[in-house]
Amino acid sequence: MAQLFTPYTLKNLTLKNRIVMPPMCQSAVEAMDGTPNDWHFVHYVSRAVGGTGLIVIEMTNVESDGLITNRGLGLWSEKQIPAFARIIEGCQKYGAKMAIQKIGWINNSPFQREYSLSEMVSKLYNKFSN
Ligand SMILES: Cc1cc2nc3c(=O)[nH]c(=O)nc-3n(C[C@H](O)[C@H](O)[C@H](O)COP(=O)(O)O)c2cc1C
Repeated sequence: MAQLFTPYTLKNLTLKNRIVMPPMCQSAVEAMDGTPNDWHFVHYVSRAVGGTGLIVIEMTNVESDGLITNRGLGLWSEKQIPAFARIIEGCQKYGAKMAIQKIGWINNSPFQREYSLSEMVSKLYNKFSN
C-alpha cells in the first residue's frame, strides 16, 4: 500500500501509480456494431480523471462473428478506430496508460475479415505513434 501512488516501470512502460482498472465488459453497444459510444467514453475517461494509472479496455472482439455478447465492443473494421481513438486520447490526456483486451480470434476461422488482427493493431498503434 505504501507504494500505491508511486510510479511503476516495466521495460519502456511507466505507470504514474499502481492503480490498474481491469477489463470489465459493459455490454453497452446499443447499435450492436461493436463501436464504442458515449457510455464507453464516459466510463473510461472518468476513471482516467480519477487518477487510474493503467486502464485495460474491456474484452474487444476482433471479428464480428466472435461476439460473446452482441452489445460487446469490437475492433474488426477501420470504421471502429475513431471511436476507440477518442476514448484513448481522452484517457491519455489525464495521464492514464491504455491497454485493450482482445478476444474472439480463431486462427482457422472461416469468416472473411476486412483486415488481419496484426493489421488492425498496427492501424490503431500507428494512430498514436505519429
Ligand atoms: C461487470 C464486469 C465485467 C467484467 N468484464 C470482464 C472482461 O471483459 N474481461 C475480463 O477478463 N474480465 C472481466 N471481468 C472480470 C474482472 O476483470 C475481474 O473481476 C477483476 O479483474 C477483479 O478480479 P477478481 O474478480 O479476481 O477480484 C468483469 C467483471 C465485472 C464485475
